[in-house]
Amino acid sequence: MNDTSKATTPPARARTKVRDLTPTEWRVPEMPERLLLDLRTDCNLKCPKCLLHGDGVDGERKHQMIGTMDADNARRILDEVMAAKPLIQPSWWGEPLLARNLEGHIRDMKERSIAVCMNTNGLTLTEKLARFFVDVRLDAIFFSLDATKPETLLKTRGIDKLDKIVKNLRMMLRIRGDGIYPRIGATLTVEPANQDEVEEFVARWTPVVDVVRIGLVYANGSLKGLPPEQGPRKPCALLYQTMPIHYNGDVSICCFDSLGDHLVGNVFKDGGVRAVWHGKELTRLRRLHESGRFDEIPFCKNCNAWAGYMFEEEVRDGLLIRRSPQFVYYNRIDRLGSWHDNLRGHRPPPRELLEKVE
Ligand SMILES: C[S@@+](CC[C@H](N)C(=O)[O-])C[C@H]1O[C@@H](n2cnc3c(N)ncnc32)[C@H](O)[C@@H]1O
Ligand code: SF4
Repeated sequence: MNDTSKATTPPARARTKVRDLTPTEWRVPEMPERLLLDLRTDCNLKCPKCLLHGDGVDGERKHQMIGTMDADNARRILDEVMAAKPLIQPSWWGEPLLARNLEGHIRDMKERSIAVCMNTNGLTLTEKLARFFVDVRLDAIFFSLDATKPETLLKTRGIDKLDKIVKNLRMMLRIRGDGIYPRIGATLTVEPANQDEVEEFVARWTPVVDVVRIGLVYANGSLKGLPPEQGPRKPCALLYQTMPIHYNGDVSICCFDSLGDHLVGNVFKDGGVRAVWHGKELTRLRRLHESGRFDEIPFCKNCNAWAGYMFEEEVRDGLLIRRSPQFVYYNRIDRLGSWHDNLRGHRPPPRELLEKVE
């Protein structure tokens, strides 16, 4: 992959407010704040960069990772975590709209007052499903566009049906109207094929959706395009926030472990979410991170994603911009009402900053 850092550098304009969101302590919450729940691993696309369905993934290994989570097992997870109200993403390296009985799963989550946020390629969204998302008060839906032109989409996602994705995104916006739910986003993962379109993407979509997300691509063990000057390495926030659960209950070290190379337990076999979260292996990994012994964990050794969770933010041009070396979120200030406290995994905007804006 080429250097893509220039793609995330915003145009120079006056900053009105900057706040550093760097974590100051490494606390292990009682339960993970965010769960990635692989309800069904299948996908209707083969995006070349995808860590499961993409180029360079061994077919046999991919095949082994594909399956469907048993509905009763999924409910067992929800029952266990509901008191902690984590944010749940109902997919991981798959397409959530293809999950069997997605509506039933989301109802199960919302009945337990759990916030649900999804990334989707948007291709199979129907009017019925879009209405369901509004009625069930789905918390957020991000459409992965990754391009401003069909010919770029062909390179980033292996198809040229940009019109179809955009049509479905606009349908979701129309059906949601001025309502709060769901918060609607457009996203672009930066790679060589689309790095020159980032500015245009932001300009095109910020007037339309509630939030635009630009993120770096992860390949061969690290994020590509992350500026090198990140200072001394810190423990990785993912180990303290997120639990990625494969369809069969296996839990991976982090969201990039699409092939289950480093498992830390199984929530169906090892006593549940809490037991794995505070279990021996995750505790060992956190201690190694806290003592700077990253090299002792092959999956972490050369990873730079730890730097991606140090956010700062600014307000300008009607946007609350939250930026880390990995992600930039452009949040429309007039649509911040759809960003509520339950979206914990995305850390809600600081009240004092918003009060200054109002
Ligand atoms: C893995 S997909 C799963 C959900 C859904 N199928 C979709 O495409 O949005 C979630 C997001 O990850 C992004 N993504 C895919 N491969 C990636 C990679 N190698 N590094 C970083 N992000 C990636 C996609 O562009 C998408 O926005
Ligand atoms: S649509 Fe999502 S899950 Fe499917 S191949 Fe692309 S990135 Fe992977």
